[in-house]
Amino acid sequence: MSKQVIIDKLLDCYPRWSPTMYKLTLGTLVVLAIALPLGMVALPFVEFFNGMAAQPKGKAQATYGRTYGGDWIVERCPVEGTIPRNHYPYPYEHVNNTIEAAGEVGTHLENPLPMTMANLQRGQRLYSVYCITCHGNQGQGDGPVIGPGRFPAPPSLHTKQALDYKDGTLYHIMTKGLGKMPAYTDKLDPEERWMVAHYLRALQRSMAPKPEDLKP
Ligand code: HEC
Repeated sequence: MSKQVIIDKLLDCYPRWSPTMYKLTLGTLVVLAIALPLGMVALPFVEFFNGMAAQPKGKAQATYGRTYGGDWIVERCPVEGTIPRNHYPYPYEHVNNTIEAAGEVGTHLENPLPMTMANLQRGQRLYSVYCITCHGNQGQGDGPVIGPGRFPAPPSLHTKQALDYKDGTLYHIMTKGLGKMPAYTDKLDPEERWMVAHYLRALQRSMAPKPEDLKP
């Protein structure tokens, strides 16, 4: 077998591509190289089933006619007397947040909760979460955020004036805030405010015991 014949036989084992085949393959590769990245960028923006986005909807803050003809009726007036969830109407909402006003409210509002151990303990817990920062462990106005260059000190809760506050006054202060002290309506619901009021009473009596507290 001549050398040439062997080479020819070997070459016959492999399929041979025509120039057209090469061009087609190269062309396909070039097209894919451009189309694939483009497709990957563009596809996420193509919506195939856009029923969610294309549905008719009302836009927030827009005014729609409340008539039945034409526009959708989106913002209907709530039923009269409707109040937001977790909102407790407060009859003295419009009374301002001065200490005089709080004193006046105190003559009308009574603590509806009995002074039980459970209520006192809950009040103590809430006091140590929400009030202690400024008013301090014992209500002396020396909490951890108080100091020069920090929060101004509140008055002690053991002054003669504070001892004379009614529970309703304490409640009004927690509900409306006082001076630099913020209101606590977003953190304490009405019951919790009354529990804190009970606890403040106990705290005051611990410093200024009544004669009957001292009997063995
Ligand atoms: C961010 C600090 C701060 C927190 C927290 C705070 N207070 Fe006050 N509180 C003050 C300041 C300041 C005053 C004095 C306000 C004024 O007279 O202008 C004050 C005043 C008071 C007074 C009136 C004292 C008086 O003799 O006039 C009472 C009662 C009171 N706070 C109760 C509470 C209770 C209860 C809490 C927790 C629910 C609380 N405070 C949480 C800062 C705070």
